[in-house]
Amino acid sequence: MATVTKLFDEAEIAQRVEELAGEIAGALPPDLMLVGVLKGSFVFMADLIRALDRTGQTPSVEFVRLSSYGHGRESAGDIALIGDVPAGVGGRAVLLVDDIADTGRSLDYARNLLVDAGARPIWSCALVDKPSRREIDFTVDFVGFTVNDVFVVGYGIDYAEDYRHLPYIGAVD
Ligand code: IMP
Ligand code: MG
Repeated sequence: MATVTKLFDEAEIAQRVEELAGEIAGALPPDLMLVGVLKGSFVFMADLIRALDRTGQTPSVEFVRLSSYGHGRESAGDIALIGDVPAGVGGRAVLLVDDIADTGRSLDYARNLLVDAGARPIWSCALVDKPSRREIDFTVDFVGFTVNDVFVVGYGIDYAEDYRHLPYIGAVD
């Protein structure tokens, strides 16, 4: 079993999600459609929509599922949509929400799907950003935490499907 070192505890995450909701509410329209990328975003989405509610936002919620990262720590680089793009994104202002921005490929892929489906405008949000790992040009509009080149788990984020249940975010050795 790998060792997990705590990086952000429950209180820090809660505080940062609250701040992030304030940043989003201050900059974006109140009738956003949040589109979460499964599975990694599910815990973050659940907290973010309730934090947005406290700011007076009334977001609707959809998800897209992208092909799995696999069981290693490196992205296959080969991303595919599993299932469909949610109906009704056409003409909507969308905030795309993922757990992590790493190479940037997943968010870029998901944004292109939304563009093709007629969503407009589209912003992006990642709970954790790893800008030093970026392989394509993708700037995340709203970032929770910025980390270096570490592999993180917990709060919905997995390593080979483990650790999603951890209430905190940690680094795997
Ligand atoms: P990207 O396409 O390389 O930006 O990778 C983004 C996706 O890879 C994220 O949505 C995660 O599912 C996964 N990923 C990237 N880094 C990590 C990590 O540190 N822990 C767990 N999953 C990760
Ligand atoms: Mg993911």
